[in-house]
Amino acid sequence: MKPATAPSPPLSAHLKKPLGPILMLDDIREGQMHLAALFIAPNGQEMPPIELDGISISAENIATYQHVTIWRCRFSRPATDPSHYRWNGNRFDLAGCPEGAMQIAYVSCNGEEHGDLTRDGDERNAMWRQLAETHDQTPLSLLLHGGDQVYADEVTLGHPLSHDWPDRLPRDPSRGDLVDLRDHLRERFLDRYIAVYDTAEHAHLAARVPSLMQWDDHDICDGWGSLRRSRTYSPVGQMLFDCAREAALLFQHGCVDGDLPARFADPTGLHLGWSITAPGLRLLAPDLRSERSRREVMGTSGWRMMEGAGHTPAPGRTFVMSSVPVLGPRLSVLEWVMMAIPSMQKYEDDLRDQWQSRAHRDSWQHLLEILQRIASLDGQDVTVLSGEIHLAARGEMALGTGKVMHQLVASGISHRAPPKAWARFLDMLARFGDSPLPGHPIQMRPIPGQSHRYVAERNYLLLRKSEGNWQAQWALEDSGPSAWMPL
Ligand SMILES: [Fe+2]
Repeated sequence: MKPATAPSPPLSAHLKKPLGPILMLDDIREGQMHLAALFIAPNGQEMPPIELDGISISAENIATYQHVTIWRCRFSRPATDPSHYRWNGNRFDLAGCPEGAMQIAYVSCNGEEHGDLTRDGDERNAMWRQLAETHDQTPLSLLLHGGDQVYADEVTLGHPLSHDWPDRLPRDPSRGDLVDLRDHLRERFLDRYIAVYDTAEHAHLAARVPSLMQWDDHDICDGWGSLRRSRTYSPVGQMLFDCAREAALLFQHGCVDGDLPARFADPTGLHLGWSITAPGLRLLAPDLRSERSRREVMGTSGWRMMEGAGHTPAPGRTFVMSSVPVLGPRLSVLEWVMMAIPSMQKYEDDLRDQWQSRAHRDSWQHLLEILQRIASLDGQDVTVLSGEIHLAARGEMALGTGKVMHQLVASGISHRAPPKAWARFLDMLARFGDSPLPGHPIQMRPIPGQSHRYVAERNYLLLRKSEGNWQAQWALEDSGPSAWMPL
């Protein structure tokens, strides 16, 4: 039984001073990092400008809520050299993205489905604190967020149209009631973002390390895109998506419709896939949610971006962000078992979210062929970064050219791990292996220092380039940092 009222307090009403700066990397072009600094400020407060070498750049108002205004300031800093900016009397240092030596962090699953707003902050943000300390020792160039930046599942509570989402929905809500629902959802999405951004641990990093984000289902609602059409395409479902998307554009990308940064492949934002190219490095992030249905992972426009990336030269390393893992155990067996047992069918939606679902086998092969094509050129390598499963793991696929494609899974930064028994079960399932591309078997392997393939601890990932070579390290909450693994 769902609670009768929304559990979240109106955090926006209690904000006393601006939240921010929260830095986003808009793009890298012509030797410059193009940045957006985002602020969430109480209505009516003056917003100090960003200061660069004696030049003041004013912030612009890009959205208004009941109690707060969203401000954004766009500015540029050198792409490959350290630099800094100032705001409100404080200096913030930036590492830049030097080609020879840089460190990037990857995080995912920043929250939990139920009661995330009332968790103890020390417990919830323990891994964020560790990451902030890591940055103070070895500055991070970029912070990649691989999905579930917020867990918005509870935003639907407390409004008569959406309180029983997705189980029971009004068939024909009036336009007036839908406008009321929009106001309800907008304010509650805002609160979710304030809750994660208004913590000392996150704020320290967000002001000093440009973020790049890719959403997953919980940024919208659990299972978005894998739910039945009667839910997704209902008036309430579409309003939920529109409000989630507006919030993601604002708080994950620092923009609104009509002014998407140049890294996005589709300026209209039908899908939110993007790519960033720096010397020796490409970051490629398809949008696996905007165009998703129970039959398709991406639409024509999303696939066009990926095919284009497969044919565009990208010397060095391409890190592909796929919110759900591309390499994993043979889940189609599990899916078949769940379909056969009526009480398990609700979990089928979760499996539909995976590349390994029987419904997406063609899409999975298509993606793997694109990734294989990228790595088929001399001087080009590809590595996949994913989250979603609340476990740490890694996989490999031999590409047939003497190269190996690594799949690195890091999840979650604040979502607690599932029972160890689930990790052992996946470990057992992974022994079966899978070969979606004939002759290229997928193998899940233990993270360095671990005896099992799936680690049930909170975690994040560090990617380090030194002397031209990339390495990965998992920061595991109980086991500590893994050994650096060459990629
Ligand atoms: Fe998650």
